[in-house]
Amino acid sequence: MNKSSQISGFYKLNPKERVALVKDFAGLSEEECDLLQNTGSLSLEAANRMIENVVGAFSLPLGVAVNFLINNRDYIIPMAIEEPSVVAAASYAAKMVREGGGFHTSSTPPIMIGQIQVVDIADPDRAKKRVFQAKQEILKKANAQDPVLVSYGGGAKDLDARVINTTTGPMLITELHVDCRDAMGANAVNTMAEAVAPIVERVTGGHVYLRIISNLATKRLAKAWCTVPKENVGGEEVVNGIVNATAFAAADPYRAATHNKGAMNGIIALILATGNDHRAIEAGAHAYAAMRGQYTSLSTWEKTENGDLKGTIELPMAVGLIGGAVRTHPIAKIALKILGVKTANEFAEVIAAVGLAQNLAALRALAHEGIQRGHMSLHARNIAIAAGAQGKLADLVAERMVRERKIRIDRAKELIKELSS
Ligand code: MEV
Repeated sequence: MNKSSQISGFYKLNPKERVALVKDFAGLSEEECDLLQNTGSLSLEAANRMIENVVGAFSLPLGVAVNFLINNRDYIIPMAIEEPSVVAAASYAAKMVREGGGFHTSSTPPIMIGQIQVVDIADPDRAKKRVFQAKQEILKKANAQDPVLVSYGGGAKDLDARVINTTTGPMLITELHVDCRDAMGANAVNTMAEAVAPIVERVTGGHVYLRIISNLATKRLAKAWCTVPKENVGGEEVVNGIVNATAFAAADPYRAATHNKGAMNGIIALILATGNDHRAIEAGAHAYAAMRGQYTSLSTWEKTENGDLKGTIELPMAVGLIGGAVRTHPIAKIALKILGVKTANEFAEVIAAVGLAQNLAALRALAHEGIQRGHMSLHARNIAIAAGAQGKLADLVAERMVRERKIRIDRAKELIKELSS
């Protein structure tokens, strides 16, 4: 008989009690339960304070990418990721870029948008005017919610209102523009949006439903660019390949999704390592890539007059140095110390540079030797270990399988016999 997943009061149990229930439900062994609760550097208590219904913690490898020179400053980039090759590729691309002078960056002020959705309005255009007339009252109410943010120079700075037509009729969307300083800002913005909603209802005569931050943070953009000497990329042919790859991504959403995924490999790994909200960044990035009506590439690569490669990336970057897991996750705190950024703007710009580096590494490999060789060496080592090889033998077996382009457990077993006899 199927066991029921309806467990009342599950949230009230402690993690060990929850594990006991999950053990029974899923038939976990004692060993598996121990592994679940062996949470490493994040204690079970700390994990239990971060989210609900905690039964353990999930570890990912944390690597560091080296060679990053950004605005003439050196950075070591912490990256949490499960995919082999990404950290090595970022380091490799950063080395190529370094030789051309490194990355350069810029960013807009850390302004987030909070949306207040008003429906059931008799005259939406008149309601819109009323919202603008009440601007000072709305901003004052918003800022009263967060005197600390205001004391640091942040807070609600402006507002906008737009009438949109939807399947359920016209709506008035009032938008708060909140300078979040060094916070990602979701808590501050959501609190402000909820606090001002009654004023918006009063002046518009409509009904407010949603009051929430927008992850399409078009007022909080980070940009990075670099020039790579053609010899460092692998010559004219590779430069041409990368320029053509950009044209492909710009014209074709199927390629653009993968092109952007390559950049997001680096971006998300860094964001995850620092305890930031990677879903917000991912959502914002892809929405931004579709802003002109067709999903396209977040970066461009072009040939300079003397045949070198110039790349640029721009995307919304809502990240913080305070609040949430950034300050409660012990490894996130160390990752930020390694990164050494002082402001959320500097952080956002470094992330953009990492995205550009990762994108360059992928395109270079694709335009040159293909990505499988790089990807396959770690995979091959894992297969060699799974087949029973250890230490140096695992390396030898992996190397042979990569050379032969036959990365299979049966071949690994054959090679183990051959190389150990
Ligand atoms: C793999 O994780 C990322 C790539 O597919 C990116 C790209 O195709 O540009 C290699």
